[in-house]
Formats: sequence, structure tokens, C-alpha cells
Amino acid sequence: MSEDFSNVNEQSEPSSGGAQMPMGIFIGLILLGYIGCYKVDQLNANFAANVHAPFTEPDEVASLAPSARELLVARGKQIYSKSCVACHQANGAGSGTDIPPLAGSEWVKGDPATIVAIAQMGLIGPISVAGKNYGAGTMTPAGETLSADEMAAVISYIRIEWGNGGDTISTDEVNAARKAVNDSSQSGQWTVEGLKAAGFAIPE
Ligand code: HEC
Repeated sequence: MSEDFSNVNEQSEPSSGGAQMPMGIFIGLILLGYIGCYKVDQLNANFAANVHAPFTEPDEVASLAPSARELLVARGKQIYSKSCVACHQANGAGSGTDIPPLAGSEWVKGDPATIVAIAQMGLIGPISVAGKNYGAGTMTPAGETLSADEMAAVISYIRIEWGNGGDTISTDEVNAARKAVNDSSQSGQWTVEGLKAAGFAIPE
């Protein structure tokens, strides 16, 4: 008697097992991995031992970062070179005739609020600076459009630079001085007398 196999294994049974990733994607991934490693290697100078020398700890590197004071003064120098340098010169010496010096100026070494007031509104001489009288030139309100941060930076810079030996001034001090300028209802450039009348400290 012949057996009836008609319902057996006509098609193979479904089996479980790893489906294969398409070859293209597989090769693509290997390629990406290779390029990635190559890039990391390249950006780190092939991990050369001397690249990070002489530092071995992140703390050592951090200890060399500029201080807040150095950053402020550096920023002030940039602002000075835009807003003030045309008249007072990079060396702070002025012109020797119409423009008074900021280097060695008793005004710059004096009360910072007075400097804010001058930078805010400008100044018309006569004015005595470092033993010499000026008045032929006029100072425009060169700091009028500076933010309080920028004003603090540029004034900190001129107070410290050129051996002036002063200290930084804060944004709060700038805001307080600006308020005093507003309260004085001064319009137009200051005169030395006007500064004095508004209560700003004037060097002797
Ligand atoms: C257009 C030219 C000009 C520009 C720009 C200028 N100044 Fe002056 N500045 C003068 C003149 C001129 C005087 C003296 C006033 C006078 O002779 O009438 C003066 C006086 C001063 C004084 C007081 C006197 C002294 O020499 O210490 C200070 C402080 C000062 N300027 C700071 C600044 C700062 C800060 C800036 C930039 C934000 C600036 N000036 C931009 C021309 C200028």
C-alpha cells in the first residue's frame, strides 16, 4: 500500500534565524566607522604624546585661562580702539596740542563716575590735564551709545593701561554714574564748571 504524502512538505516550513542585512548597508557602515576613526585620529594629531604636553590635568589648563579682570581689560581695549583711539591715540598720549592725554591724566586716575559722565556727554574745554591747558578741541559724546558693560570695560582699560595703575569699574558703577548724568538734566557737552555743578568730582 502506497503512503499518501500529498500533504507533506510541499513547501518548506518557515524557520527562524538571522535575516541578512543588505550588503550595501553593511559596507556603508564599515566605511562610516572607518572615516569616523580616521577623523578622530586626525583631530587629535594621531594621539601624539607631545601634543598635550606639558599638561596632564584639565585643572592645569584651566589655571591658565585669563581672569575676569584680564577679559574685561581686553574687551575695553577693543572698544577703545573703536570709540576713543582716533583722538586719544593708541598710546593714550593724545595729540600733544588739541587732544589731552589719558596716560598719566589725573582725570583718568580720579573718580570713575566723572569719566563716565565725560564719555557719556562729551566735553568742551578749557581743561587742565597733567599740568597743561587744553580747549582748542572738543570731545564728542563718544561713549553715549555704549552699553553699561562696554562703558565699564573701556573705562577699566584706560584706568589700568599705560601705567595709570588704577582699577576696574563695575557695570553698577556705570549705571549709577549714568543716573547722576540723567538727574543733572545736562544737555549737550559738559564744561568743567558744569561737571562740578552737577556734583562730579574734579581733580585738584
Ligand atoms: C573727537 C575726539 C575725541 C574722542 C573720540 C574722544 N575724546 Fe576724550 N577728549 C577729547 C578732547 C578734545 C578732550 C578735552 C576737551 C577739550 O579740550 O575741549 C577730551 C577729554 C577727555 C577726558 C578728560 C581729560 C583727560 O585727558 O583725561 C577723558 C577722561 C576722556 N576724554 C576720555 C575719553 C574716552 C574714554 C573716549 C572713548 C569712549 C574718548 N575720550 C573719546 C577728544 C575726544
